[in-house]
Amino acid sequence: MEHAVRFRPEVKPASRLDLSRAYAIDLARSLRRMAVKNVRRTHDIVNDEYNVGEWGKALAARGWMQAPSLEQFLIGENETPRLAKVDGEIVRISTRDYYRYRIGALSELIARHAGTADELVELGSGLGQNLFMLSFDQRWKRLRGFDIAPNGIEAGRQIANRFGLGDRISFDQLDLTNGDDPHFRELAGATVFTYFCIEQIPYAVEAVVENIMRARPARVIHIEPAVDMLKLSQPRDFASRVYIKSMDYQTRLFKLLDSLDNSGRIRILARERMQYAPSLHNDGLLYVWEPVQ
Ligand SMILES: C[S@@+](CC[C@H](N)C(=O)[O-])C[C@H]1O[C@@H](n2cnc3c(N)ncnc32)[C@H](O)[C@@H]1O
Repeated sequence: MEHAVRFRPEVKPASRLDLSRAYAIDLARSLRRMAVKNVRRTHDIVNDEYNVGEWGKALAARGWMQAPSLEQFLIGENETPRLAKVDGEIVRISTRDYYRYRIGALSELIARHAGTADELVELGSGLGQNLFMLSFDQRWKRLRGFDIAPNGIEAGRQIANRFGLGDRISFDQLDLTNGDDPHFRELAGATVFTYFCIEQIPYAVEAVVENIMRARPARVIHIEPAVDMLKLSQPRDFASRVYIKSMDYQTRLFKLLDSLDNSGRIRILARERMQYAPSLHNDGLLYVWEPVQ
């Protein structure tokens, strides 16, 4: 990675007391969410949470205009401590240090799985947090983001312009559930990744994977929440399972990829559990696959 030396935060493993308290709170919140909201993750809910919510608010605040550098924009000013997964271990770490560490952790992970590619496409890129973090690695000559949310796309474009990255990072609209979307053509031969995006489309997982396969990318990397690797006897995994259920995130992607691999339609190149996460429950699994010719 050509980004300065990877930032290794000084962290202490969370104490048992810290962890038990955090799991209990997490679990109680998830159970409350299930009882009170009973979320069904439809297109309208995702639009409210992301297009109107997260990305709409970011666009209104235009935080990138005040930030002196891209790195400072990405890591923010928040020193509040949080429990997060760093190098496979739950630790207490300041929010700012976590995001500084994440730049290197994400870059290493993607570089390790992207073969010889020097361009990347992110599906469901939001306002581009991942693409901007990856941009510190000069290996990536071009980074393209696609998302369904117009506010995410507009915010991404403004951030790219603000930091002089308009010629390297671009954002366009694509609805992953619509196989006729013309932007699918741009995936042919590309190295593509999703990062906590398919989680948002639990009722169209098969259609989305079919649409991606039909577009003939060279390679696909998914980093998404999963229930498959969770050991329910472990309190953290149990809390994650209930959280995923309470959010109505997808639970079928990895089983589907395994069955496509078994039937010879794709070849799975890697499966691994994520070694970093910003909270107790944003725990992901990584699968890498390529279409079989
Ligand atoms: C949890 S956010 C993750 C954003 C980004 N990957 C990141 O890690 O910062 C999920 C994103 O998926 C996008 N999304 C949801 N449904 C989609 C669809 N059908 N097609 C394309 N993007 C979609 C949302 O608009 C949102 O930006």
